[in-house]
Amino acid sequence: MDQDKLTKEFYAQIKYPGPNSLITYQWAQRLKPYIPSKEFLLLDAGCGAGRHTAGFLDLYPNCNAICLDISKPSLQLAEALFKEKGFSNRVKILNQSFLDEISINNLADCAISIGALHHSTDIIKSINNIKNALKPGGILGMMFYSKKGHYKRYMLREAISILGLNKDLESAKVAVKSFNKKYGSFFDKTIRTIYQDIRDNVSRKVKQILKIRSYGYPTHISISDAMFADAYLTPVDEAYDTFEIKKILEKADLEVLEFVTLGNINKKRLPDTWVNSWEKLGFWEKVRVMELIDPLPKSWSIICKKKAK
Ligand SMILES: C[S@@+](CC[C@H](N)C(=O)[O-])C[C@H]1O[C@@H](n2cnc3c(N)ncnc32)[C@H](O)[C@@H]1O
Repeated sequence: MDQDKLTKEFYAQIKYPGPNSLITYQWAQRLKPYIPSKEFLLLDAGCGAGRHTAGFLDLYPNCNAICLDISKPSLQLAEALFKEKGFSNRVKILNQSFLDEISINNLADCAISIGALHHSTDIIKSINNIKNALKPGGILGMMFYSKKGHYKRYMLREAISILGLNKDLESAKVAVKSFNKKYGSFFDKTIRTIYQDIRDNVSRKVKQILKIRSYGYPTHISISDAMFADAYLTPVDEAYDTFEIKKILEKADLEVLEFVTLGNINKKRLPDTWVNSWEKLGFWEKVRVMELIDPLPKSWSIICKKKAK
């Protein structure tokens, strides 16, 4: 069976990110500087259970949205979330692949595709379909895996695949859990990672206690089966480095506005004696240096613009 069909079948059985996910405001906030003050239309491509869309709808009463995903069960979770929050009349649901043309009545002002494009068999075609559903000058926020941020997960994926321990969810869970028991302890982490983990957990707990608009997942849920399957069992799972990202964005003819996390241009992060040489570099070399020196590499979160022709 081809990879595309396998991906469709895989996600048809998955409700991502699973029950009890919270509304996520992260992307709604990231796109704030680029969002029109008048009424606007958001397209969420690969929306899963709609946590990012819900963040936009809650934060911006002038936002309407289209939620697109190949996974019907995930869209059903999204519909339930929108109903509970009173957003249903502002959302349209589209059960289709972004590998197919997206035909909508009005072009969107902005689009997001979070954690979805790295599962596509043809990322350029997928981005182009999303871009074609955007107005000229429209904004596109994307998150996909970075090679550096995910190399440990890829090593583990490959090891359990060679061992034949990834045949089903339960055996993969046992395999990963026992690996983590042996190598995921306090002693296998750097001080910097431990500090970051503590900071993230404390901040999530404080937000939960103070009922501050939080993002992510309730702290009592470490990882759902859907999130686990998404990390270890997906048929297609690609990661990219700076120059691969450059190629993708050039082929898709998108203008980069911002690297939000990995690759973020911030010369304060450079060693002092590097600054003069770094300043003489072109844009993509600057980004690559930022990627290379990041001590806690993450996924790529990139904000782009569809060129106004
Ligand atoms: C990791 S989940 C992310 C969901 C959501 N964006 C979030 O951050 O919670 C990836 C989502 O992409 C969807 N997806 C994967 N391939 C797709 C495709 N070709 N077309 C549309 N959606 C797709 C999956 O069904 C899944 O819901």
